[in-house]
Amino acid sequence: EKGGHEYFMLKEIEEQPEALANTLRGHFEAGRIILDEQRISDQDLRDVDKVFVVACGSAYHSGLVAKYAIEHWCRLPVEVELASEFRYRDPVLDRDTLVVAVSQSGETADTLEAVRHAREQKARVLAVCNTNGAQIPRESDAVLYTHAGPEIGVASTKAFLAQIAANYLVGLALAQARGTKYPDEVAREFAELEAMPAAVQKVLSTVEQTREIARRISDSRAVLFLGRHVGFPVALEGALKLKELAYMHAEGFAAGELKHGPIALIEEGLPVVVVMPSPKGRAVLHSKLVSNISEIQARGARTIVIAEEGDETVRPFADELIEVPAVPTLLQPLVSTVPLQVLAAEIASSRGYDIDKPRNLAKSVTVE
Ligand code: F6R
Repeated sequence: EKGGHEYFMLKEIEEQPEALANTLRGHFEAGRIILDEQRISDQDLRDVDKVFVVACGSAYHSGLVAKYAIEHWCRLPVEVELASEFRYRDPVLDRDTLVVAVSQSGETADTLEAVRHAREQKARVLAVCNTNGAQIPRESDAVLYTHAGPEIGVASTKAFLAQIAANYLVGLALAQARGTKYPDEVAREFAELEAMPAAVQKVLSTVEQTREIARRISDSRAVLFLGRHVGFPVALEGALKLKELAYMHAEGFAAGELKHGPIALIEEGLPVVVVMPSPKGRAVLHSKLVSNISEIQARGARTIVIAEEGDETVRPFADELIEVPAVPTLLQPLVSTVPLQVLAAEIASSRGYDIDKPRNLAKSVTVE
């Protein structure tokens, strides 16, 4: 069943190109983005003036990634919120609010309650879900299914990448409805998404190298993760994977926050994983991160850098370097998350833990 793999998670990591391709398939026809079930009229979609993404855990991180794309493409304010916080606040919602509920299982209690609350307030709810006919899509006004296939490993991998892709399709559908992107621009963005399964496939060729790096740091007490822009939620996701699987203290930070506190944590030998932006795509962010890395390296950190292939400037600051293919900035999370999944799995495996069934965790959290 594990297809010759030691654990499901590794199999599911390797299934990510297919999960992405399946999630995108059939959603761009006759020059238009189409969702699966749309019980929201085109007019109502045009009238949306605010977007909330509500979700838990990794699904929440997929929302944080999508915020960058949806705001950029649609010129709409996007708030991303943990479902467990959203439902107990008094969020400002009305019929022009689109609430995107992201859930692999479609049964997560907090996300479901957030959906119910949003609908009571007359907001439109769109579910992004990996499970056909689950409760969250059943109670939503529109649905876009991710087609990652069943995810057995408790730690989300392929469902997370598929959620990012699906959230992006939601963003493109909104941009199309609102006219903030011309049809040829929507087509181009979709084509770039369609190139991602091949890019992720390329990252999979670095799995063995990443596993070796993981074994070298598996004795550490803690690991920090740094990123900027879309690399920030990737850092959060990398830290979550490591907590879940290796039971290690792990934190993700926005690199710009280092000086505001976290740099005090840096000590000799502490592994710090840095998610680099492209030197070409976001040159300013890139140079800021290079200076962040040099600062933490000077204080003794052991830097593990995820960078675009051919990024020479970062090399002198990388104690370990994992190269990922060059892709458009907004799509980088789809490639840069993969080594972090492998790192967490392999550190956990070196420590002798059951990767597919980490302690204290359930695959689907149907109670609060
Ligand atoms: C992390 C993980 C969890 C889930 C979270 C939401 O690896 O799997 O954080 O992402 O429990 O679950 P769903 O997406 O089913 O609502």
